[in-house]
Amino acid sequence: MAPSTQPLPTSVSDEKYANVKWEELAFGFVRTDYMYVAKCNHGESFQEGKILPFADLQLNPCAAVLQYGQGLYEGLKAYRTEDGRILLFRPDQNGLRIQAGADRLYMPYPSVDQFVSAIKQVALANKKWIPPPGKGTLYIRPILFGSGPILGSFPIPETTFTAFACPVGRYHKDNSGLNLKIEDKFRRAFPSGTGGVKSITNYSPVWIPLAEAKKQGFSDILFLDAATGKNVEELFAANIFMLKGNVVSTPTIAGTILPGVTRNCVMELCRDFGYQVEERVIPLEDFLDSDETFCTGTASIVTSIASVTFKDKKTAFKTGEETLAAKLYKTLNDIQTGRVEDTKGWTVEI
Ligand code: COI
Repeated sequence: MAPSTQPLPTSVSDEKYANVKWEELAFGFVRTDYMYVAKCNHGESFQEGKILPFADLQLNPCAAVLQYGQGLYEGLKAYRTEDGRILLFRPDQNGLRIQAGADRLYMPYPSVDQFVSAIKQVALANKKWIPPPGKGTLYIRPILFGSGPILGSFPIPETTFTAFACPVGRYHKDNSGLNLKIEDKFRRAFPSGTGGVKSITNYSPVWIPLAEAKKQGFSDILFLDAATGKNVEELFAANIFMLKGNVVSTPTIAGTILPGVTRNCVMELCRDFGYQVEERVIPLEDFLDSDETFCTGTASIVTSIASVTFKDKKTAFKTGEETLAAKLYKTLNDIQTGRVEDTKGWTVEI
């Protein structure tokens, strides 16, 4: 289906900014003005989507997402540049990832063109919610889910693709360095499971250990692999990297780790900086022996890890301005916010 940009249902105010205290912006839900909605019936192609006023969704109580957890989400950001442009960051990559997730969850999916068009429309419709440069970003959440009723038999009669947006500040409050707890009881993902796609079912099952760790004063948790409990995998919502000498390592994507868009960019930037970059199984002992470690994600961006605690033993790592994480954060942020020329073709001006 050809993507299209439709007139908005009501006139968009020409205010440049919404009435928000940008300095106080956290990473949380803020109700903005518009959302995008497209439907697909009986696994056929998605109909042309519409920008609608933001509103609650009406859902059949027997919807596949409510009964059987058939749902995926994505996360990407729109940035306002100092010279007034609006940039998206690699939206096609999220469009491709949602397709891989949809295949895994047995769902139809929008084309990458329709996905990118939807993201552009949501960002533009909610333009006044895009924070001023340096004050945050507009976080866009596309969701694909089984909205038709299913009790016992296929096919799913209806699938919905929707996207909304919220202005956000930094996800991690302790930007200067996270203190992680290595989670030794709960596992996030299993071989041949859904850890490698952005299924909505990957998150709340690990809220118990996350809440416990936060109560104990940790910033986040780092999961070990479910098969052996010996190798590091990822955080609640971010990929992990380690630096040792001139080698940057990150766990191999093999079905249990989310193929992060930021992870991918960071590997490329590290190669540009002259590091050897490897994807491999990372035993916990190797990880604890790093010179530096950091996590990456759309929400996390690039954030240093200050310490890791495993069974009450704390290991500290280098943080601060002289770290690779700081250099990566600045380089990536300069590209995302249009402060330097994007020679990689990662940004999309809308
Ligand atoms: C993202 O980084 O976009 C995520 O989906 C993580 C989320 C828990 C904020």
